[in-house]
Amino acid sequence: MGTARRLLQCVALAAAMLPLGVATADDTGLDAAIGKALFERPWVPAPSSTRANDGLGPLFDARSCSACHHGGAGKGATALNEKGQPDGLGMVLSLFREDGGGDPVYGHRLETMTLPGVPAEGTFAVATEDGRRITHIAEPGYGPLDAATHVSLRTAPDLRGRGKLELVDDDAILALEDPDDRDGDGVRGRARRLEHPEGGSIIGRFGWKASHATLAGQTSEAFALDLGLSTPLRPEPWGDCTEAQAACRNAPHGREAEGEPEITNAIVERIVAYLRALKVPQAEADRRGAKLFAATGCAACHQPSLPTRDGGKVALYTDVLLHDMGEGLADPAGVPGAAAAEWRTAPLAGLSTSLARGVGLLHDGRASSVAEAVHWHGGEASAARARFEALDAARRRALIDYVSSL
Ligand code: HEC
Ligand code: HEC
Repeated sequence: MGTARRLLQCVALAAAMLPLGVATADDTGLDAAIGKALFERPWVPAPSSTRANDGLGPLFDARSCSACHHGGAGKGATALNEKGQPDGLGMVLSLFREDGGGDPVYGHRLETMTLPGVPAEGTFAVATEDGRRITHIAEPGYGPLDAATHVSLRTAPDLRGRGKLELVDDDAILALEDPDDRDGDGVRGRARRLEHPEGGSIIGRFGWKASHATLAGQTSEAFALDLGLSTPLRPEPWGDCTEAQAACRNAPHGREAEGEPEITNAIVERIVAYLRALKVPQAEADRRGAKLFAATGCAACHQPSLPTRDGGKVALYTDVLLHDMGEGLADPAGVPGAAAAEWRTAPLAGLSTSLARGVGLLHDGRASSVAEAVHWHGGEASAARARFEALDAARRRALIDYVSSL
């Protein structure tokens, strides 16, 4: 099916959604409605005949964006079954080396699904030791991981409102940096500077370690690593398959004959339009809670609002900066540009939905409540944690209720 026909179908789909109030009459609304359909669309494998522009896999860990991101309405599922295996999608096992590369055989992800004829990479199980999550790869299909490969369990964030981070001015983020702790509050924070493809640097805003500067970049990585689909930014049609995974490299891929990526720019742009249109979750005003949040030092990192380039504000409760969170939260190793214990301040907007759904908090989903999440705050957040623990019972309750309502 050609791109034009596919888009026409999407337009028809979008038009069908109009009465539901999903789209507005202007182009942005229409693009966002098409993007929503694409975000929810289950992609399919390329047939062995060519001229197909689909090409899910051969290795993949979900069929749609929506499967991991709770349909764009909250954080991905983090429940485990009795064997410790993920019960549903929403967590991935990230594989990395200190130089930023992936495993020489498995690549950057343990993909848990495969197409017929291509050996599976395996699945993973999660155990808890002293409250920390330890992962174990069951039946690794290509032998053990390389000795220099590290693993990190990552949950799929709530995407609501996150697209607005693109609108925050660089200067507003840089003004919050305090790498030398000149104000002596123990909170430093630094923007993650990524290499700009056209030279110079660009601020990382997305992902647990701020490893992507743009929604298009993050979306293209998801297509490559999670769905095994190529995009203009990630043109390899085999996704995360390495040279050592010959059956995967040789399997049929979409659009082979045309030499074009399986996912066109038009598709990426519409998904980005959808992500931009997702509204920031709104909490009821609670001035007492907000004051406690600031007085306890939570707001130093979880900035209640940031100014946007269009003169507005976005209330996500993050400063977009990386902070050293101490040993308790650290990955087994760092990558260039982000040390093992450095994480981007997690946006707290929408937290009430995660709590209501029983979804685990923190990058690996280990915490089941606000108090538990704060318990793991170390490093630059040690003073805030100590103040939190020193609050009398009534105030601590009020602060927990406030954060849990966001
Ligand atoms: C297999 C599960 C999975 C699938 C499928 C998936 N994601 Fe994600 N997504 C994640 C995880 C895990 C992260 C966090 C990654 C990290 O930082 O290490 C993430 C992060 C993101 C972020 C950054 C959010 C933030 O808070 O900064 C965006 C945006 C995003 N995904 C969009 C998409 C889109 C668009 C698609 C489909 C093309 C998609 N994702 C498919 C699991 C998934
Ligand atoms: C020094 C910066 C800093 C301070 C101060 C701080 N946090 Fe955090 N917070 C973070 C970072 C970074 C993360 C993500 C850590 C991770 O996932 O490993 C986080 C994660 C969280 C989460 C989990 C969010 C999610 O979606 O998983 C909650 C809840 C939270 N913080 C609440 C608080 C509260 C309440 C306070 C004040 C007592 C506080 N934080 C103070 C930086 C900070």
